Amino acid sequence: MIYSIALDGPGGAGKSSIAKQVAKLRGIVYVDTGAMYRAIALYMLKNNVDIHSEETVVSQLENVDIKLEYRDGAQCVILNGEDVSTQIRTNEVSMTASVTSAYKQVRAFLMDTQRNVAKTTSVIMDGRDIGTVVLPDAQVKIFLSADSRVRAQRRWLELQAKGDNTPFEEVLADIEKRDWQDINRKEAPLRQADDAILLDTSNLDFQQSVQAVLDIIDEKVK
Ligand code: DC
Repeated sequence: MIYSIALDGPGGAGKSSIAKQVAKLRGIVYVDTGAMYRAIALYMLKNNVDIHSEETVVSQLENVDIKLEYRDGAQCVILNGEDVSTQIRTNEVSMTASVTSAYKQVRAFLMDTQRNVAKTTSVIMDGRDIGTVVLPDAQVKIFLSADSRVRAQRRWLELQAKGDNTPFEEVLADIEKRDWQDINRKEAPLRQADDAILLDTSNLDFQQSVQAVLDIIDEKVK
């Protein structure tokens, strides 16, 4: 049986690391939709596109080709033939993606690719609008949340590990700005689907969060 798990929530809630582990344990495909929005943002940055002009961003989409490939079970994002999986993980790309992902045609551009993967294989797909817009019929919907200071702390530790010394207060301010933009945009805002289960990971470590997600899945997918 093919089934889909929609995992939504704000940045830094742990969606991608949890989804990756759950996909491995259940032998299903992990689809990181944020990575696709990030790849579009990276293209705009590399080509000096004015990201605050919706019209300009949309007019550039015809030059963008995004593919997801899987190598040793890990998702790679291919932008115009180049593997940009690492390049899309900077704070600049995060902030840019939060702006460009608000545009209706940017969202429409990625929708088919996202839906098509889920048609042929079981997936755990993470994002902001998976349970509400992309896969409204997903068998399992989880909304992952955590206090913004906890999320900022996790992001800060990740950045430090990569040698990026952005101060904690700046990471926190960026997380809160991105939350605001993702929640308040007109198109597919970040929102818990009515039938999604809320999982707050503020007081859970990684293993506990993975287990909590597995318990929800096992309850729904028999
Ligand atoms: O999950 P992430 O941090 O990689 O997402 C980067 C940005 O992309 C985020 O600010 C909002 C946007 N995004 C979105 O609008 N819809 C999705 N399904 C996934 C991400």
